[in-house]
Formats: sequence, structure tokens, C-alpha cells
Amino acid sequence: MTTMSKDAALAHKLGVRDSIADMPPSPIREVSLVGAGVPGVTAFWFGEPDVSTPKFICDAAAKALSEGKTFYNPNRGIPELRQALVEYQSKLYGRPIDPERITVTASGINAIILSMEILVDPGDEVICVTPLWPNISAGIEIMGGAVKRFSLDFAGDKWTLDIGKLIAAIGPKTRAVVVNSPSNPTGWMMNSADQKTLLEHCRKHGVWIVADEVYARLAYGRKAAPSFVEHAEPEDRVLVINSFSKPWAMTGWRVGWITHPLGFGKTLETVTEYNMSCATTFAQWGAIAALKGGEAFIAESVARYQANRDVVYQRLAGNSRVRIGLPDGAFYAFFAVDGIKDSLAVAKDIVRTAKVGLAPGIAFGPESQGFLRMCYASEPGRLGAALDRLEDFIGKL
Ligand SMILES: Cc1ncc(COP(=O)(O)O)c(C=O)c1O
Repeated sequence: MTTMSKDAALAHKLGVRDSIADMPPSPIREVSLVGAGVPGVTAFWFGEPDVSTPKFICDAAAKALSEGKTFYNPNRGIPELRQALVEYQSKLYGRPIDPERITVTASGINAIILSMEILVDPGDEVICVTPLWPNISAGIEIMGGAVKRFSLDFAGDKWTLDIGKLIAAIGPKTRAVVVNSPSNPTGWMMNSADQKTLLEHCRKHGVWIVADEVYARLAYGRKAAPSFVEHAEPEDRVLVINSFSKPWAMTGWRVGWITHPLGFGKTLETVTEYNMSCATTFAQWGAIAALKGGEAFIAESVARYQANRDVVYQRLAGNSRVRIGLPDGAFYAFFAVDGIKDSLAVAKDIVRTAKVGLAPGIAFGPESQGFLRMCYASEPGRLGAALDRLEDFIGKL
């Protein structure tokens, strides 16, 4: 029998819905709380760029504020941003996108929960390709859906998807398949052929695909990761989730977008209206500037992340007790350390003794218990010093 935490017991007593009351606390947050009491900790537990938003983006939002753009805006976003997104995606993926297929959201996670509100009824099965950022499965569970985990394979030096097995896992009860590529935490990137295979199968069986592509522009050696936007026809049951947070260093702005089937405008208006009504008006003007003038910033950032990735990878892969795959995208090193049985306890220990803040593998699912995640969007000197201390810790495990 599992014992209920004090927080869960209190929430039940107060009459909170079961699926919210029983939601476990975030293990990443738990480690960061331990770190808050330890002086001199270098933190790599959260996933965000290490620099603030470029000035030209801030200036555009400041201009909007000074011009009085402080009112509500349409549920699906200001027309100027929707149009800029149409142009951006059409150019990036070399195929025209109907403006009716774009809806602005108040961040990537907002887009995820809106998608789950649209798709998931209590008891619906949703297959998630894992390891997975926990907020996505939480969104399904909040709606009362049943998460069915489908793990990528890890051969010790590479993450791979067995597309045949994924397709075999889709059954009559499956409502949707969730794929996050490039992946947080593994850095795995889905290839175009597998995207097409999955789409063809889902199309035939009326199954939805929810593609989280918030790291699409953080793809090493290419302009963007393969995207479902390249394959989905306007009538396909595909929701592609994206965000301004990571590529343009805009995590605090809370602006994202969904590319969805044609005819979904009314549905998106409805769910947006009853969640946040609209994304922040002046932030959307900043987002337009990001789309129009942000390519140089993305290129510089990806070059910096790639250099960091190579250093982190070489150092960790060179450690005989560590197994790691070279990330194809995003900005995380996800590595297994021999002997780790409880990644949460070990991550807390690393914070206390090595003063390095990592996310425990268990946060991304039971299949990741032996792993740790490090966000390497960081200044190289800081990263190098932390790796010294981490290697020292691993050597003593
Ligand atoms: C896979 C994935 N999806 C979505 C998000 C949400 O990003 P945001 O809500 O900042 O747009 C994150 C953030 O870490 C993420 O890692």
C-alpha cells in the first residue's frame, strides 16, 4: 500500500479533485529546494537559456506598452503575430501554412494543457514516448486520461525509437500519441521517415498526434529539427506545439503557438477563452520582433550550446561509470551513472556535497531512475568547474 504524502492528505481533506490532490511534487523542484539551503551551488536543473532576451525583442514589447497596447486581444492572438508565424513556418518548412491553422497561446505548457482539454476525456489512453518532460504526462492525468508509456531504447550511447513497436502499441483504445522531439531530457530527435510512418498509421486509425516541438530550432548541424508541420495535411489530426521560450530566450514571456487542423479555430477560441482568454498583448509584439529579426540570435545560441554539448559529452562519455548519448537537439545531457538506484536521493547528495544542481532521472519517468539531467545552456567556465566536481563525486560513488 502506498502512503499518502502530507500535502496530498491535506488537499483531499480540503476537497480538492483526486487527480490534482494526488499529483506528486516535482522531483526537480525538490532538488532545487535542497539547493536553496546550500551556499555556492551551481544550478543546471531547470531548462532555460542562460542569457536574457535580446534587446531588440524587449524594445518591441516596450514600444507596444508605451503605445498603449495593454488591452485584451483576440483569443487566438493578434493578427500580426499569427501572420508572422505563418510566414516564419512557411519559410522554415518550405510549404505554405493556412493562417487559420495557427493559434497563439500563453506558452508551450499552456498549448499542451489546451490540447489535452480538447482531446482527453476521463479514461482515454494517451501513448507518450518516454523519457518525457513530466508536465506533459501531468496534463493528461489532470484531464483524467490514462498515460501509457512507450520508452525509447538506450543502447548505452544512443537513444533510438523502434517505430514498428510504437505502432504496434497503438490500439483501439488509443486516443492520441505524444512525441516530444527534439526531446527533453534525452536530446533524441525523431527522423522524418518515422514521422511519416507514424502519421500514416494514425491517419488511418483516427488517432491524434500531439507533437511537442518547442526545441525545433535547437537542432545541431541543421536549421531545424524534422517537423510534423512538414507532413501534416490541413485535415490531419495533428497538433504541433511550439514556444518562444527556448530559441529566443523568452521563458518569462509566456508566448507559444499551436499549428492545428483547419476548422479548429472555434475550438481553440473556446478553450482559450476559458483558460486565459488571450496571451499577453505586449509580449506578442515582442514575439513578432523575435520572428522577424531573431535568426542571428538563434544561430549564435545554437553554436554556443553545441560547443558546450561537445565538452559535456566528451567529459562524461570518457568516464567509465557513465553512459550517455550525444544529443541531436535541445540543451540537455541525460546520462546514466553505474550504481544509481535512487536518482532523487543521489541528485540531492550531489547538491549538498558537489554543489552541482542536476535534475533527477526519476522526474522523467520510472524508466529513467538511473539517470541525471544537466542543462548545458551555461557559461563554459561555470560548466567546466561543475563537471570537475561532478566527476569527483562520481569517482567516489
Ligand atoms: C518538452 C517541453 N515542452 C514544453 C515546454 C514548455 O515551455 P514553455 O511553457 O516555457 O513555452 C518545455 C519547457 O521546459 C519543455 O521542455
